[in-house]
Amino acid sequence: MILVTGGAGFIGGNFVLNWLADPNAEGIVNLDKLTYAGNLATLDSLKNNERHEFMHGDIGDKELVTKLLKEYKPRAIVNFAAESHVDRSICGPADFVETNIVGTFNLLECAREYWNNLEGNPREEFRFHHVSTDEVYGSLSLTDPAFTEKNSYEPNSPYSASKAASDHLVRAWFHTYGLPVVTTNCSNNYGPYHFPEKLIPLVILNALHSKPLPIYGDGQQIRDWLYVGDHCSAIREVLAKGKLGETYNIGGWNEKANIDVVKTICTILDGLKPRVDGKSYVEQITYVKDRPGHDRRYAIDASKVERDLGWRPAETFDTGIRKTVQWYLDNPIWVDGVVSGSYRDWLQKQYN
Ligand code: NAD
Ligand code: DAU
Repeated sequence: MILVTGGAGFIGGNFVLNWLADPNAEGIVNLDKLTYAGNLATLDSLKNNERHEFMHGDIGDKELVTKLLKEYKPRAIVNFAAESHVDRSICGPADFVETNIVGTFNLLECAREYWNNLEGNPREEFRFHHVSTDEVYGSLSLTDPAFTEKNSYEPNSPYSASKAASDHLVRAWFHTYGLPVVTTNCSNNYGPYHFPEKLIPLVILNALHSKPLPIYGDGQQIRDWLYVGDHCSAIREVLAKGKLGETYNIGGWNEKANIDVVKTICTILDGLKPRVDGKSYVEQITYVKDRPGHDRRYAIDASKVERDLGWRPAETFDTGIRKTVQWYLDNPIWVDGVVSGSYRDWLQKQYN
């Protein structure tokens, strides 16, 4: 088995599906707290899959994590669990400190105790893979070179500060205790099962529901977009071949200004599902107040992971965004569950 945390979220859910699609891959124990961002509907296709074991719980729960490690003896831990939305971190940073910093600390401590008691091959092969973000490097100007693994950490939001802290803990557990860790710092993901608080799914669904498409500030902020399937393949590569204690930047080589991303989505929707009044979805674009402390530009230099491990993204932004828009049109049940909030009924049914 491997232990995946946060596997009911956007990237973790895609990773679990992607991993289990390989019949030769190990099974997964999936530990997720099912916050508002956790959605078991994403894992519906695994209902009768004996290689997937779902555990409802918190990475900060020492007793539970210790029990899971003892029972399932995982070959690796892949840590996706986090509070991940920058705007929410601005409104309420406490959960970000609790899960991203204290939760990761607890996971590291449980992993250390587990790994210390392993011997032979299981000890040699064990990995702690920490999934992090490019936001830890701060903000770039238009002319700065893209972030490499050597950039200093300059986080600007409560979210990125909490992820930076977790990266430092992971690094320290390698240097001090020898825990076999690898960290990946990834750019903005997009694709299926993305919760519509984030720009791309929000714009697709707002467009279809005749709502405004909110653009923060002047819309010229730049993000480096990576299709989530490519992120999953990068994690598999780093988990299999990454050098212990190293960090790897993962990116899509797809820098785009927000306004261009939104206009591209509008154009695709104009073709696939035209508005009844015949006008373009671009008409719904609305400029709104900017995010406080909004980072201007992120860009990832993903040369190291290509040079050392031979990984490169398969999708361009044009192919990935088209697939993504089509996915939202083709999956009304998942979408309706999220929009209506009914996906959360499971929690009530199961735990009340
Ligand atoms: P998400 O918000 O969609 O999912 C997070 C998942 O973690 C949810 O299922 C949630 O229920 C679970 N979770 C939250 N707190 C938990 C806790 N205390 N214990 C157990 N589970 C908990 O996030 P995502 O977009 O899938 O991001 C996954 C990881 O990738 C995060 O660590 C994030 O920082 C990182 N990352 C995300 C992006 C991106 O563009 N989305 C880019 C780079 C890095
Ligand atoms: O860079 C990686 C990060 O990407 C991850 O670590 C985070 O978990 C993930 O949420 C994402 O952070 P961003 O803040 O870049 O993503 P978001 O989708 O919230 O916003 C993308 C850009 O679009 C950003 O510049 C803010 C802007 N935006 C966002 C929303 C929700 C808008 O203009 N309007 C909006 O309504």
